[in-house]
Amino acid sequence: MEFTNSPVCIKDLEHIASKVMHPSALSYYNSGADDEQTKLDNIAAFDKYRIHPRILRNVTAISTETTILGQQIATPLGIAPCAMHMLAHPAGELATSRAAAQHGGVMILSTLSTIALERVIAEGNSDMQYWMQLYVLSDWSITEKIVQRSERAGFKALVLTVDMPILGRRRDDIRTRFIPPPHIHLENFFDPESASNSEGAAPSTYNDVPELLLAASVAGGNPAVTWDNVIPWLKSITKLPIILKGILTAEDTKLAISYGCAGVIVSNHGGRQLDGTLASIDALPHVVEAAEDKIEVYMDGGVRKGSDIFKALALGARAVFVARPVLWGLAYDGEAGAKQALDLLQNELKLTMMLSGTRTIQEIDDSYVLEPVTQWIQSSVRRQKRANHNDIEELKSKL
Ligand SMILES: Cc1cc2nc3c(=O)[nH]c(=O)nc-3n(C[C@H](O)[C@H](O)[C@H](O)COP(=O)(O)O)c2cc1C
Repeated sequence: MEFTNSPVCIKDLEHIASKVMHPSALSYYNSGADDEQTKLDNIAAFDKYRIHPRILRNVTAISTETTILGQQIATPLGIAPCAMHMLAHPAGELATSRAAAQHGGVMILSTLSTIALERVIAEGNSDMQYWMQLYVLSDWSITEKIVQRSERAGFKALVLTVDMPILGRRRDDIRTRFIPPPHIHLENFFDPESASNSEGAAPSTYNDVPELLLAASVAGGNPAVTWDNVIPWLKSITKLPIILKGILTAEDTKLAISYGCAGVIVSNHGGRQLDGTLASIDALPHVVEAAEDKIEVYMDGGVRKGSDIFKALALGARAVFVARPVLWGLAYDGEAGAKQALDLLQNELKLTMMLSGTRTIQEIDDSYVLEPVTQWIQSSVRRQKRANHNDIEELKSKL
């Protein structure tokens, strides 16, 4: 029997990335906080949900088109914001952006991108959307400049990361003493105006604050950020919809609605912040219920298969984002590898749709997934029935 060497699933890409990446960069990508319970749960929790397929339907034509924030896109599968794609490949976010453009969907660009946001979005097209992820830096005026640039460049939404009042404790990063290599720059911190003003000189960072200090201000988190100070402020400086990333509870979902946010991303930062929270897929139903269709709900965390995307959609997510799978693809083969990660997931999603009798994303609802408690009740009902049946057989045998 002949075997193919090319990756056939995300696990294969993960394995290849572990061979080709620099050990400290790899551990930065893969690390989770503390005992990594939440990071591991994000993946394992999907297994508790089982698909409830329907058969004998015509599934020759499958469409993954959907709308996000009122705009048509090719697929509900998107790319979550991740710092420093150049750790995986020299073309960094440019390669990711080209892969995303061939694929459709949403790409969320991290504030900590190693390519300037204007260059990343220039690789896109109208089948997709770019959203800009924000950290509120200790100097809020710098965040404001990034917001203005994003709006000018054509980003369709702002994604405010709200689960990082302080950086989670990622033990592997401490062990490897991870710091980005010197050839990598956080290009969104450089003022694009400054280069054009000073004849060919390299642009300088905003307010001349050294790049490393700006990075440290992100890494240090911003513990003083609150609902009342940040959301009204953001709304006063932008017309773009605001999406909160890092919501895990019904309570915060209701607050997001009351503060006029357009959507929330159910996320625990890939298990990199607070260890011991619910897995994203377990938190999703609570958030969906609290959202009452008033705002869009998306999710990320632990998605490694098309069937995971299907389950998240069935539980009410409007779109599903992946981070590490794309980074592993990028490490494997740049743009082609990132595209391969997306293609694998997209094809598996289509396969799951066909095998479960669903032809459109809109058809995928909670009737297609069995939640853990339902499974438990059903299996105990089955056991009960079997017991009753046995009783009857026993009675009959005694006739
Ligand atoms: C290496 C790495 C860097 C990340 N950088 C950011 C970031 O800059 N901003 C952010 O909001 N989330 C960041 N995240 C979190 C992801 O957006 C996402 O929430 C999470 O990783 C999804 O889980 P997954 O990796 O299991 O797909 C990062 C995650 C990883 C793995």
